[in-house]
Formats: sequence, C-alpha cells, structure tokens
Amino acid sequence: MEIIIKATVAEAEQEVAAIMARQVRLKPSCTLGLATGSTPIGVYACLVAQHAAGGLDFARVTTFNLDEYVGLPADHPCSYRAFMREHLFSKVNVSPKHIHFPDGTASDIPAHCAAYEQAIRKAGGIDLQLLGIGRDGHIGFNEPSSSLASRTRIKTLTPQTVKDNARFFGSEAEVPRHVITMGVGTIMDSRQCVMLATGEGKADAVARMAEGPITADLPASILQMHPVCTLVIDSAAAARLKRRDYYNWVYENKPLWQRTGTV
Ligand code: GLP
Repeated sequence: MEIIIKATVAEAEQEVAAIMARQVRLKPSCTLGLATGSTPIGVYACLVAQHAAGGLDFARVTTFNLDEYVGLPADHPCSYRAFMREHLFSKVNVSPKHIHFPDGTASDIPAHCAAYEQAIRKAGGIDLQLLGIGRDGHIGFNEPSSSLASRTRIKTLTPQTVKDNARFFGSEAEVPRHVITMGVGTIMDSRQCVMLATGEGKADAVARMAEGPITADLPASILQMHPVCTLVIDSAAAARLKRRDYYNWVYENKPLWQRTGTV
C-alpha cells in the first residue's frame, strides 16, 4: 500500500483528485467507483473545478457508487443519489445513463444486488475505486465482521455508524438501519483503490488498517492485500502511524514517471 501524508486536508483532497483526474485522462472511458460521506466532498469540488476549467471530460466515464440506504428513494435529500447529484453529477458532464447506484427501494434486494454485480462486470470492472473509511474501519458500508470476500448485499449498520451519520439526517432515529453495499470482495476486484482519510477521528482506524493485522474486525485492513492501493491522509489522520517517516521518504523519492502531475 502506498501511503501519502499531506500537511493539510486541502492538499490531501487535491492529491486524490489528481489521481482520479489522471485515471480519466489516461482512459476517458474508464469506470470509477465512487464514495460518499463528508470526506470526499472536497475531492469532488476539485474535480468539478478541473471540469469547469475545461481540463477534464467525463462524457465517456461510467460510475458505480459504493452504497445506498435501504428504503430511501432517489429523490430523498439524504439518499446517496442526492448527495452525488449535489456534489458531482449536476456539475460535470457524466451521462445519466452511465451512472449506477444500488437501489435502496428494490423489492427483491438479493436479485438487485446480483444485478449490480453483473452490471459492474458488464462495464468491464472498476478501474479506480474511491474510498473513505468509517471510524470502525468500514469501507462502503461493510461493517466489522463483514466477510472479506463479500459481494454486494444488504447490511445492518452498527449503532456507531448510525450515530456518526445522524448529522446528515437530523436525528439518529431517522437513519435507516439497513443499507445495500458493494462487498469487500467487490471493492477488492477494482484495479486500483484510492482511500482518503482526514482528521484525528480517523487516526486509529488508519493505523489499524495500514499497520495492523488483516481482519474482518476492521474490513479496511484487507486493502493491505490489494495490488494497487493508495492511502492519502492529512497529518492528523497520520498521527498514530508507526512508519510515518518511511512513508514520507518513499513519497519524496517517488520516480518522476509515477507522479500524478505527469499526466
Ligand atoms: C459512510 C459511507 C462510507 C464512508 C463513511 C465515512 O458510512 N458509507 O463510504 O467512508 O461514511 O464517512 P465520513 O467521510 O463522513 O467520515
């Protein structure tokens, strides 16, 4: 896993946006896996700015979002569809027919989840998956104890995640208990994973993910097994890493051709 530590949140967001923009420029018809939560908002703002400046074309890009709340229709203000519309899709030229979400209102959830997996396969797989991390180490909505080989399915949120996400809903009582999420195995099939984590609240999960044992108790730890995974963090989220100096050293000595500014 490549670990990039930036001094500020803004620099970390710019780094992730640069990695994503590079992917879009290298392969204009790429498939992006997208994430929600507070963390990627700044990344989407950077991508929107690049698009507005004429430097980034999403016309041929296909997207698959990681997850969605069960029971929330697409027009619900707290749905992840609404989130993505607000922060990215209404501001760049992704074609609506290329946008995919798990459907939280599907009547046959297992069949819908199987169809979502099939749609990802049909699109040729995900080239780059953007990820955040929950304070308990979840990715997508794969809570602790999720099978590390899991596929898209229904999950029950932990009380902690319900609490963490209540800020979007107004109260804990309004947060759905169930979600549909790509599985850990689905995420691991992506050709590249890029995780952004910022703030001291994520420092513990980040250290356990990058330097602890691989365990279903912290689903993000499986990313240690991913062949092309980059973790981008700010200095607050890096606070508990043991090998911080080495990660900085690796970044400073990165070969020119591997740097994001080159494309
Ligand atoms: C939700 C999302 C995750 C996200 C996590 C962290 O649970 N399903 O994909 O990584 O929140 O959110 P935040 O970035 O707001 O801390």
